[in-house]
Amino acid sequence: MDKLRWGILSTARINRRIIPALKASRRNQLTAVASRSLENARQFARQWDIPRSYGSYDVLLEDSSIDVIYIPLPNHLHVEWTLRALQAGKHVLCEKPIALSPEDVNLIQNAAGQKKLVVMEAFMYRHHPQTIKVREIIASGELGEIHLMHGCFSFLLDRPDDVRWVPEYGGGSLWDLGCYPVSYCRMIMGTPPTEVCGWQMLSASGVDLVFAGTLRYSGGTLAQISSSFAVQTYTGFEIHGSHASLLIPTPFNPQGKSHIILQRQGQKHQFEFKVKDLYLGEIENMADAILDGIPPRIDLQESKQNITTLKALYTSAGQNTAIRLSSE
Ligand SMILES: NC(=O)c1ccc[n+]([C@@H]2O[C@H](COP(=O)([O-])OP(=O)(O)OC[C@H]3O[C@@H](n4cnc5c(N)ncnc54)[C@H](OP(=O)(O)O)[C@@H]3O)[C@@H](O)[C@H]2O)c1
Repeated sequence: MDKLRWGILSTARINRRIIPALKASRRNQLTAVASRSLENARQFARQWDIPRSYGSYDVLLEDSSIDVIYIPLPNHLHVEWTLRALQAGKHVLCEKPIALSPEDVNLIQNAAGQKKLVVMEAFMYRHHPQTIKVREIIASGELGEIHLMHGCFSFLLDRPDDVRWVPEYGGGSLWDLGCYPVSYCRMIMGTPPTEVCGWQMLSASGVDLVFAGTLRYSGGTLAQISSSFAVQTYTGFEIHGSHASLLIPTPFNPQGKSHIILQRQGQKHQFEFKVKDLYLGEIENMADAILDGIPPRIDLQESKQNITTLKALYTSAGQNTAIRLSSE
């Protein structure tokens, strides 16, 4: 197989970021797009120079020439269309959060296992050299014992008709943005938290407009995460250890030039990174997994653990009590 042929389900806004990466990629190519409206699909295909367009997602899945499906649908549709794509024999890159319950990740895991197909949740930051360097520093033990982490991701959501406002669609700032710091904490710790506690402020539509949570890990490490649709864009992640701290100003969406700072006894060392396309890494990682059998950087077990944590944070905020996930 020369290149993997990709099909995209929907004309979602995020496609603007994925399509240039697909076009720049060596072993992938964009072949088709589907929309609920044939006219929209055609117009989108013309705009982005995509060879084929379909007026329904089902019809695209019937196209036997497509190898991989990218799913950028509203959150409540991720599981249904991932399962349908697997049923049709396609590999899947699905937007975050891949599901809204750990039980649904089990369904995906089983289906992918039976069909021997690759499914990955699209956390683009994981494939960036900056993240790979952060992981190296953590693995080197340079920070000493990690005691505390802080992670935040927010932006001002000023589109009143956005799917993120709809509770039944898996709307809310924690599902949309807080999932990044939760996932980053899991990456650093290599394990999910044993206990969480969350607080939220609801929007008029009933989703969390602002969310703040505390995660406690076996051994006692604490992490604080926050997300919001109500404040100006801000993002960051800090890891504080007994020997040193690591500060990451743009942990989730480093674009162009980015840097991280290792701070030890008043000394600062800055590492710099330059990446043209933030989304290319996840596209290439899919090709490595499908064509070379290399395990994808984010497996479904990890996705399931993150979704368990996110659900527990929501439960905690709803019930006004801490939620224990496992014994120490
Ligand atoms: N990784 C990242 O950097 C990143 C960034 C932004 C968003 N995301 C994720 O990508 C996904 C899409 O986000 P987005 O902001 O791009 O969404 P969006 O612009 O609202 O697009 C969602 C698309 O889904 C289709 N759709 C199907 N059923 C729908 C329904 N009931 N209501 C509304 N749309 C429906 C529509 O396409 P058709 O009409 O063409 O069928 C619509 O264009 C989300 O899961 C989000 O978390 C990821």
